Amino acid sequence: MSIELLAETAQAMVAPGKGIIAIDESTGTIAKRFASVGIENTEENRRAYRELLLTTPKLNEHISGAILYDETIRQSTKDGVPFAKYMADHGMIPGIKVDTGAHPLAGCPGEMVTEGLDGLRARLQEYYKLGARFAKWRAVINIGESIPSGTCIEVNAHALARYAALCQEAGLVPMVEPEVIMDGDHDIETCYEVTEATLRALFDALYQQNVVLEGTILKASMVISGKGCDEQADVEEVAESTVMCLKSVVPAILPGIVFLSGGQSDEQSTAHLNAMNQLGTLPWPLSFSYGRAMQQAALKLWAKDMKATTPLRRRPCTSVRRKTAWPHWASGKADRLFRVLKQRNAGPVPAFSFFLPGSWLRSRPPDPASMPSCPRCCRSGRCGSGPAGRS
Ligand code: 13P
Repeated sequence: MSIELLAETAQAMVAPGKGIIAIDESTGTIAKRFASVGIENTEENRRAYRELLLTTPKLNEHISGAILYDETIRQSTKDGVPFAKYMADHGMIPGIKVDTGAHPLAGCPGEMVTEGLDGLRARLQEYYKLGARFAKWRAVINIGESIPSGTCIEVNAHALARYAALCQEAGLVPMVEPEVIMDGDHDIETCYEVTEATLRALFDALYQQNVVLEGTILKASMVISGKGCDEQADVEEVAESTVMCLKSVVPAILPGIVFLSGGQSDEQSTAHLNAMNQLGTLPWPLSFSYGRAMQQAALKLWAKDMKATTPLRRRPCTSVRRKTAWPHWASGKADRLFRVLKQRNAGPVPAFSFFLPGSWLRSRPPDPASMPSCPRCCRSGRCGSGPAGRS
């Protein structure tokens, strides 16, 4: 490990005017995001969506790096350039999420501990070879009746420090993320206390395990009212409380702090970060490493575009979509017909729209009422609704 190289990477991650985009949703989590906009969770859709984000023109003027997921770091652009190489070629630093998720903490009801230390050394070496230069680990701290417990805070801090030490050994900058969850009806003062205790435990553990702070980035949650709290702190209070809390715990030698959005809207999270950066000179740069708050608008637009341009035959035949989607048993016929027409260099487009491929159908949608039922689907029960007419 070269401390100089780690420090250089860490500083580049928080370069002035730049932040990090988190696109490291696990396959299960992105399934929920896609479902919210009606997109099927296939490997190709995940790849295409991440390509859209990573190849955004001039992205490197505002984004220093991106956190990828295990599947994503092995994927490529449609032209066959691995995402990590594409990023490096465009001046962005590839990062990777390396924890394997938060799991219930035994003996501590309602609390979680993040796992993923087993075999981590070998995984980090592989990720380095794949191009990653920083790695993220997220711990989850819930606030509720009598929680978080000291046990929860300690075990998560210990795991974060173990992962951080392994990262630095492998030449990767650890991005340590102890997320104090916004869910709950707690007030901002409670969030302050829990965040402070969590960060204290984290920096103690990092010190105990010889983690070099010059080569470490903190990914923090903001000090904010619980989502269900009647009294919501305003932008100034969130900014002042967050900065005060960080100043009281985080050593000045840390190269930078980035924030997660944690369920805040894009406007809200941007307003909070902007207000923090108006509070005068701080010991470290403060930037963003948002996931949802950066992606939400893009995801909605992409989904709309996908639905408009994807041939209907590629959509799944489900009972909900039966009346508007292209039945898969008919799409085979359309495909075959299209191929035959192309082979024969057929001239005009056939007038009967039922056999047209999806791209032609866009200008001439099928009349739902005239669409036949889907015998294969209903026979096999895949659509779960039986013959057409049942909902
Ligand atoms: P959100 O900004 O959506 O909270 O995600 C950031 C992240 O990386 C969570 O681990």
